[in-house]
Amino acid sequence: MATKEFPLVPEQVQPVSTKYRKIQTAIPVPESIETLKRLRDIEPRSMGGQPPIIWDHGKGCQIFDAYGNMWLDFSAGVLVTASGHGNPKIAGAIASMAKRGMYHAYCFPTDIRAALVTKLTAMLPAPLKNVFLLTTGSEATECCIKLARTHGLKVGGKQKKVFVSFEYGFHGRTMGAQLAGGSAGLKSWMGDLDPSFVQVPYPDGFRQTDTSFDVFTRTLEQKGVNPDDVCGVMAETYQGGNAAIMPSAYAQALRKWCDQHNAVMIFDEIQAGFGRTGKRFGFEHTGVVPDLAACGKGISGGMPLSAVLGTEELMNMYGPGEMTSTHSANPICAAAALANLEVIEEKGLIANAEKMGKILGQHLPKIQAASNGKITHIDRIGLVGAMQFTKPGTTEPAPEPAWQMVWESVKRGVMLFAPVGVGGSCIKINPPLIIKKDALLEGLAVLEDVAKTL
Ligand SMILES: Cc1ncc(COP(=O)(O)O)c(C=O)c1O
Repeated sequence: MATKEFPLVPEQVQPVSTKYRKIQTAIPVPESIETLKRLRDIEPRSMGGQPPIIWDHGKGCQIFDAYGNMWLDFSAGVLVTASGHGNPKIAGAIASMAKRGMYHAYCFPTDIRAALVTKLTAMLPAPLKNVFLLTTGSEATECCIKLARTHGLKVGGKQKKVFVSFEYGFHGRTMGAQLAGGSAGLKSWMGDLDPSFVQVPYPDGFRQTDTSFDVFTRTLEQKGVNPDDVCGVMAETYQGGNAAIMPSAYAQALRKWCDQHNAVMIFDEIQAGFGRTGKRFGFEHTGVVPDLAACGKGISGGMPLSAVLGTEELMNMYGPGEMTSTHSANPICAAAALANLEVIEEKGLIANAEKMGKILGQHLPKIQAASNGKITHIDRIGLVGAMQFTKPGTTEPAPEPAWQMVWESVKRGVMLFAPVGVGGSCIKINPPLIIKKDALLEGLAVLEDVAKTL
């Protein structure tokens, strides 16, 4: 479902001036309308649907436009700027690498590539060991699908190619990633679907209230899937359309099931990885280690870099030159990622995400209570919260109040991206992991005030 477009009609809003927020013009800013219209004119409409604010620069947890306005950022881009905007160490790493003039592709080894994969492999619990650097999250999930299929065919013959994923899941917008995605609407363009991609309910406790692992086996049975034909199972550690992490009992049962049936277990950690959930990897909450993990977003502080982390066996199935990508380990992105990982450690950002997450967890029910019944479900893990807007007593999406809440919050100086998830009816709160308590409380108070207007 397409999200609603924000109006390009300047509106006089109540001026705001605090330590973290400043709104001193009409919103959208009249002088920015021409550029916003040009973007709408030239780009595909699909690039729209986000608050019409032209980002000029960022600092820490704040976003600035060129007209004197300042927002407290509850979006972290789209969960990319873990270490905040404009972190000097990351900016310095990018600048000094840019000055070395190494604008190159994967073919030729670099020290920075070696340093980054060394850093990443040292973070991995056994049996994860190998690191394959890529550019986008979709590329990483596609690679996981390919490795699972390759492994399946190798160990189980040509029928072992069923790839199981989860309803409402999101793994990116390329073809394999969308086949594995769990929203029918996103794959209708394919015409005929590949029957070897099968989805089962995700144990989110909201749309799927029975969170027992029986649902997994029962659904496969109902869909006529022979468990031994399954080559891999891929799940987001928490689903991007909410913030419900896979229950550990479920994850452990899934791990056992994958071992029993020689299926590759994959976690999509593109949102969860590198501290967002209050642990380095989201799967650490579950007590299991997958065979493959797809990472992106917060790995690099905002530069385009992703990674597949995997076991030696799976990652070495392809020979030299058989699994590559042009921009793999681009030196500037790799330098940014290494600096970002160091900042996360040096500044204790994983612990901060856990600590600030608890505050977020205390306040989400207050925002819900203020919402006149519009917010019907909340979830949180670490420093990511989700507020679901549905029709009363149902799980049927109610996108309009969600959209209104985003727009009103932006007009009051709190930056959110447009609602996500089923029917565009979920607001996500995920500030940079560096956020301080006073900033977090200020933004949450704004959201509570906005909720009262719904
Ligand atoms: C869980 C998850 N997987 C995969 C992706 C795709 O990543 P990218 O947009 O970098 O291709 C996203 C992006 O939102 C995501 O949230």
